[in-house]
Amino acid sequence: MRVEDPKLKAQLLDLGIDVRSDASMAELTSLGIGGSTDLLRITKHESIPELISVLERHQTRHKFLGGGSNLLVGDGELPWLVLQLAKPDPEIVIEGNLARVDAAADLGRTVTFCAKHDLGGMEGLIGVPGTVGGALRMNAGAYGMQIGSYVREVKLYRAAQRSIEILRGAQISFEYRHTSFAPDDMMLAVTLELPSKPFKEILQGIRICNEKRRSSQPLGQKSAGCIFKNPPGASAGRMIDELGLKGLSVGDAKVSDRHANFFVNAGQASAKDMLTLIADVRGRVENAFDVKLEHEVVVWDA
Ligand code: EPU
Repeated sequence: MRVEDPKLKAQLLDLGIDVRSDASMAELTSLGIGGSTDLLRITKHESIPELISVLERHQTRHKFLGGGSNLLVGDGELPWLVLQLAKPDPEIVIEGNLARVDAAADLGRTVTFCAKHDLGGMEGLIGVPGTVGGALRMNAGAYGMQIGSYVREVKLYRAAQRSIEILRGAQISFEYRHTSFAPDDMMLAVTLELPSKPFKEILQGIRICNEKRRSSQPLGQKSAGCIFKNPPGASAGRMIDELGLKGLSVGDAKVSDRHANFFVNAGQASAKDMLTLIADVRGRVENAFDVKLEHEVVVWDA
């Protein structure tokens, strides 16, 4: 979708929105898949309620992009604009055991920045690509921890209320790869409360997690992390592996040889290839184990 209407262009300019035309979603996602659309970069959180009203007045659909690391986008010309937060400076402010982090901040950089201030707890998230906002929305986790455990408050744009709000405590719930945020809420910033730990000790934990990840996941390849959530008490990766599906492919979309719940783009895979592979594997797991796997990857099919 293109921003063509001169009135809309002028209104976006007034709101400080930077319009990048014909952005390739393949270049903005870790899977390297997806067609193109115009990308609207938001420089001021406070402009969001008005931006959404403007887009609605112009009957323009939109989607909100984080770091693009857990996302499968459809092929071709996309029927919606994509909004993304620009990175502010600074992205992180530390006050005692609190880290105030912008949603656009890179997750890995946040973990190491906090570590340098002797704040730990998030070692397991090292190596998880994406932004803090994306991690928050999905309640990203690994190696026995999840980001939700450290969240004190969240600043977000609440689509239903059409306003920017701050939620804390019982107003937010975090479960396994699921949160109480609505699908069209936008994460804007988070305050994390982290335990004090000496930098050297955190670094040791980071090294261990990095090593575990390197030995079990296809890190150098284009992927969106795990495709399916683990069903209660079971491992999607193990089930797919037990069916001998590592290496199964549709075009350049392929079940990783290293970890069967990672599907990689081994070249020029299309969204159609990847979706066909996902449906095929899901069907085979259901036939063999009578388990319906749920997507972990977010799909924006055109
Ligand atoms: N396994 C296999 N074959 C495979 C993959 C895994 O037999 O191809 C077995 C492993 O040997 C192990 C078990 O399955 O006994 C679990 O595997 P692993 O430890 O790799 O963990 P996982 O459950 O597959 C989860 C998260 C990962 C996270 C790791 C580490 C989900 C869906 N995945 O994977 O998160 O990095 O634990 O904590 O919860 C992601 O969310 O995108 C993601 C990659």
